[in-house]
Amino acid sequence: MELITARLRLDPLRESDADALYAYRSDPAVALYQGWKPSTRGEALDFIRAQQHSTPDRRDSWLQRAIRLADATLIGDLGLHIPAGADGSYAFGITIAPVYQGMGYAREALRALFDMVFGELRAHRLHASIDQRNAPCAALLRSLGMRQEAHFRESLKLRGEWVDDVIFAMLAREWAHARAER
Ligand SMILES: CC(C)(COP(=O)(O)OP(=O)(O)OC[C@H]1O[C@@H](n2cnc3c(N)ncnc32)[C@H](O)[C@@H]1OP(=O)(O)O)[C@@H](O)C(=O)NCCC(=O)NCCS
Repeated sequence: MELITARLRLDPLRESDADALYAYRSDPAVALYQGWKPSTRGEALDFIRAQQHSTPDRRDSWLQRAIRLADATLIGDLGLHIPAGADGSYAFGITIAPVYQGMGYAREALRALFDMVFGELRAHRLHASIDQRNAPCAALLRSLGMRQEAHFRESLKLRGEWVDDVIFAMLAREWAHARAER
């Protein structure tokens, strides 16, 4: 799976991305509300190797993609969870390196992802599970037209701490409506 937008290219992570991926994913500000934080460059490399052959038709797996500028600079990554059954309900997560935040890159990448998931993959529903304190991410998801539809009290353990898990979701028809409004 490869997606092209006006400024970005979403394609597979490569072993040569390990330094950049490790640098931003191990940044405490980036990892604050995330389940995974590499402790070493080797862990970042293992992560890249583990997902190198993932495809959208591999059920119950995470499909990880690099988010790159046109010159191939890695500025972030996103993950799409492919459901176990053919039920059309997908989940995702996204990370942008701090120096590239606030420039509309996450929204641009997610718009392309949503187009692909609701189009080519014919998803019925797409959701994201986020730490309730992650205000930038909640604002990002709302800006895409997603709804907050659940708030689970202390249902997620992040690095030894119980945190509230908030679910944002969108249905295929809601995405079609949001696109038409743009
Ligand atoms: C959440 C995150 C992905 C946003 O990436 P980004 O590229 O900076 O976001 P964008 O520039 O595309 O912003 C799009 C919208 O999101 C919201 N937003 C993004 N960052 C924000 C911030 N720091 N504070 C408030 N709103 C914010 C705004 O509504 C913004 O639209 P606007 O610029 O028109 O106001 C980024 O902050 C990040 O990687 N955080 C660390 C990793 C993480 O927690 N990921 C969430 C897991 S799903």
